[in-house]
Amino acid sequence: MVKKYNDRFLKACRREPVDCTPVWFMRQAGRYMQEYRKIREKHDILTVCKTPELAAQVTLQPIERFDIDAGIIFADILLPLEPMGLNLEFSAGEGPVIHNPVLDKSGVSALKEVDADSLRYVGDAIRLARQAIESQPSPIPLIGFAGAPFTLASYMIEGGSSRNYIRTKGMMYGDPAAWHALMKKLSNVISGYLWSQIHAGAQVVQLFDSWVGCLNPDDYREYVLPHVQHIISSLQNETVPIVHFGTGTTALLELMKEAGGDVIGVDWRVHIDDAWERLGINVAVQGNLDPVTLFSPLPEIHRRVADILRRVQNRPGHIFNLGHGILPQTPVEHVDAVVSMVHELSARSS
Ligand code: CP3
Repeated sequence: MVKKYNDRFLKACRREPVDCTPVWFMRQAGRYMQEYRKIREKHDILTVCKTPELAAQVTLQPIERFDIDAGIIFADILLPLEPMGLNLEFSAGEGPVIHNPVLDKSGVSALKEVDADSLRYVGDAIRLARQAIESQPSPIPLIGFAGAPFTLASYMIEGGSSRNYIRTKGMMYGDPAAWHALMKKLSNVISGYLWSQIHAGAQVVQLFDSWVGCLNPDDYREYVLPHVQHIISSLQNETVPIVHFGTGTTALLELMKEAGGDVIGVDWRVHIDDAWERLGINVAVQGNLDPVTLFSPLPEIHRRVADILRRVQNRPGHIFNLGHGILPQTPVEHVDAVVSMVHELSARSS
């Protein structure tokens, strides 16, 4: 059988023309899928992440179920925290818990600046997933990922998810030297980790700065931007595109672009054409359907998908995605429907 590689996602990352707009979903492997819940009945999430065969199997679930244009390796942004010295647990209902959070300068000093060998299971999962994808008739690219340093630092300091980031900002404003030392350690770990994912076979990498939107532009510039810039520039000799994503970043878009990335991920709080106008045409854009839209009746979903595509007008460099991850109760058929809508509504006449 002749393989026909589906490279429209890679092309869009490079702002090259495509036959139709590529689409994938953040958190596309997860509890909204019955196949995933079945695996989770038998194994906790950390076990799935740390067992390359299971992680690869779960990575393949949405690829087999939907006509999506990219896969994303199954892992979690918090995995590097463990080898750095933190005690991580995913508790049912509560989300991630870190039992020994970083409280101050001495907590920062105690963190180990580990190399990517400590997360070798992720590279192994990438190799297995790539192999499985390559054996399909129409292989799609596989995305690797890491949390960005601000978002990871917030989990390290708060000990879990947070609403107001009081301790995180407390360290940032109260002990900037400790803050920068923490961000430096995290940035070195993240660049080594992404490098190892690329060398294991990840064809694109995404940096998730999910919670950075809680900062004002001055704080982003001073406390975050140089560190993200360090990570992204450390990977510039690799030929893989980098997606730089955050939520609530309407006030930060220009600064995120300055920090780097071939693709900027935007959420639904901004019109995608306004965001792109501010970012400039020399960068690709990923987004930006509100994940809650997927709970609406199909005609309403169609209207909103069409609105995003109308705003973009088939400009090269658009990757369709949600503005944030798929939610656990999302109807699977609606995910399927969005993929068809995007492909059909954006098909270029040849
Ligand atoms: O996208 C994919 O399919 C790959 C898998 C993936 C997971 N986490 C698996 C996971 C990815 C890309 C992530 C990233 C991640 N993890 C982020 C950034 C993206 C975002 O949503 O902002 C963040 C902030 C985390 C941290 C995290 N992991 C939280 C807050 C939680 C608990 C909340 C929740 O959704 O349950 C997790 C657990 C987690 N990571 C789940 C999955 C599928 C659900 C847990 C489960 O299966 O029990």
